Amino acid sequence: MPRPPFWPKRPSKPSSAPAYVNASRVQLRRAMERFAAETPSGSRVLDAGAGTSPYRRLFRRHHYEASDFAQLPKKYAPLDYVCDITAIPTEDDRFDRVICNQVLEHVPEPAQAIRELYRVLKPGGLIFCSAPLFYAEHQRPYDFYRYTQFALRRLFTEAGFEIASIERLEGVFGTTAYQFQQMWLFLPRTVDDLRQLNVGGRIVYLAPFVLGTRWMAGHLRKLYSAAEVRWKYVGHGMPKNWVVIARKPNPVLDERATIRRRSADESGRS
Ligand SMILES: C[S@@+](CC[C@H](N)C(=O)[O-])C[C@H]1O[C@@H](n2cnc3c(N)ncnc32)[C@H](O)[C@@H]1O
Repeated sequence: MPRPPFWPKRPSKPSSAPAYVNASRVQLRRAMERFAAETPSGSRVLDAGAGTSPYRRLFRRHHYEASDFAQLPKKYAPLDYVCDITAIPTEDDRFDRVICNQVLEHVPEPAQAIRELYRVLKPGGLIFCSAPLFYAEHQRPYDFYRYTQFALRRLFTEAGFEIASIERLEGVFGTTAYQFQQMWLFLPRTVDDLRQLNVGGRIVYLAPFVLGTRWMAGHLRKLYSAAEVRWKYVGHGMPKNWVVIARKPNPVLDERATIRRRSADESGRS
């Protein structure tokens, strides 16, 4: 892709202000910590589309296995399975837990991927899956979709899962921080950058307006990301990502639980 004329040529000067933190990754780490803490020791866990396996250490009490198709020119952690997410070379019902973070947007056939994750998960096992609703194109050309909560509910239930929860990964402060971050990254940086856009005499009022907007965005992205890390405000507004936790039904255990519930109800009535 051709670079816009104002694309950064070198990293900007170090600033004394607090660093910009990717608040979504902070929230994802927190959610993964909770999920790992609730996963019984010794469970077998698959990280599907693991990349650099950023959450491997959270599963050190478990049998952690990583899979990825490893097609991108980037670093990958050691992988147990180099494969497409739609064809994982393991037996059915192998894993107690599956995690799949920030992968579904890259898969051309997401329904097939979710059916495959269902296949390798044990009955009664849980999947934790995060996927973006709002994020710039990345890992091109392997970037196909963004997801609403309704699409995720449909994809998971059609594969056979029971939904335990679908929640916002971050609140509106995190989404706002990301928008300011985009402004700071991609708005023109200097009067010369603006001149390259052939704006003529309008540069007189465009320059303070555009450069001032970018300057302000540089500060606001840090404030809003700090606010997201401190307070996850989900009263309204759009998240960047949704998190699905879903369960593969276990017909035997579910039948027993139904019988126990029925007999408890009957003894309560009599
Ligand atoms: C945005 S990265 C996320 C990596 C990691 N899960 C994380 O949370 O940092 C997406 C990953 O999905 C992998 N991926 C993309 N398409 C895939 C496919 N069809 N099958 C398996 N892995 C895939 C990429 O190689 C990449 O490592």
